[in-house]
Amino acid sequence: NWSMETFIDDTVREIRERVGDKKVLCALSGGVDSSVAAVLIHKAVGEQLTCVFVDHGLLRKGEAESVMRTFADHFHMNVVKVDARERFLQKLKGVTDPEQKRKIIGNEFIRVFEEESDKLGEHHFLGQGTLYTDIIESGTATAQTIKSHHNVGGLPEDMRMELIEPLNTLFKDEVRKVGEELGLPKEIVWRQPFPGPGLGIRVIGEVTEEKLTIVRESDAILREEIQRAGLDREIWQYFTTLPDFRSVGVMGDARTYAYTVGIRAVTSVDGMTADWARIPYDVLERIANRIVNEVDGVNRVVYDITSKPPATIEWE
Ligand code: XMP
Repeated sequence: NWSMETFIDDTVREIRERVGDKKVLCALSGGVDSSVAAVLIHKAVGEQLTCVFVDHGLLRKGEAESVMRTFADHFHMNVVKVDARERFLQKLKGVTDPEQKRKIIGNEFIRVFEEESDKLGEHHFLGQGTLYTDIIESGTATAQTIKSHHNVGGLPEDMRMELIEPLNTLFKDEVRKVGEELGLPKEIVWRQPFPGPGLGIRVIGEVTEEKLTIVRESDAILREEIQRAGLDREIWQYFTTLPDFRSVGVMGDARTYAYTVGIRAVTSVDGMTADWARIPYDVLERIANRIVNEVDGVNRVVYDITSKPPATIEWE
């Protein structure tokens, strides 16, 4: 596509001129915006860019590996992976309130990122995947905050670094086109939305390692079956949640008392409103069977059939 190529060429040239021989730092989340921004900046300044990828332990199955494979192995970028899993779990211990959890995860992310950037020494620029829509949305302070959407990409302004925001004139669909043009893998370019606080808000109530494993494994099964059924493009967002209760079941001739997994799948345009996805019964059946058979500690699966409003997409 002609105009996309022009955009890439112009942007790369502008970044190169602005950065000169200085250093750039990026926070990489694995989401499409931060990924495209990082690859664009890398195209412009190569080795002068360092990316920090914080593994907070709230990622989906295989996600940390996929981020490292794509950016470090494939694009040969400098990526520092920080294993902060233990640290986040400690901070979340005993915390059950959804907004409190979001705040803790957001603050801790910033703290870890700042510590890493201190270790890396002086960087003059901070690269971010801010979109045009992000700027418009934060400009209209009239919208009531229903949930504090702390984005893992959103860092404090007092970091004493100049910002490089190469996507700030683009909409999401344009960012995807740029990503494809840059050769980013489909799984990143077409990745469904994933909240900054990650699985931390899909484990309802207190976050523990055991519960994270259940939600991560059941989510992987759901994703696999949705893709196998060819539904991954028409369903806007799909994931599992883990409510904070157990119920009685039977396995063989023994009574079980185990967790319930919730399936959430919606169609939507922008996430502001959403309709529950009419997944065929046979697909739902396969997903439910696999989850109870393959995920330890689960004996029941339910399907969320509420739309937004009155429900929200996430359960927290
Ligand atoms: P809700 O649950 O409010 O979600 O209907 C709408 C969309 O926003 C995502 N979401 C978040 N994204 N930080 C994020 O970056 C958050 O704290 C957060 N909470 C919800 C949600 O996944 C859906 O796509």
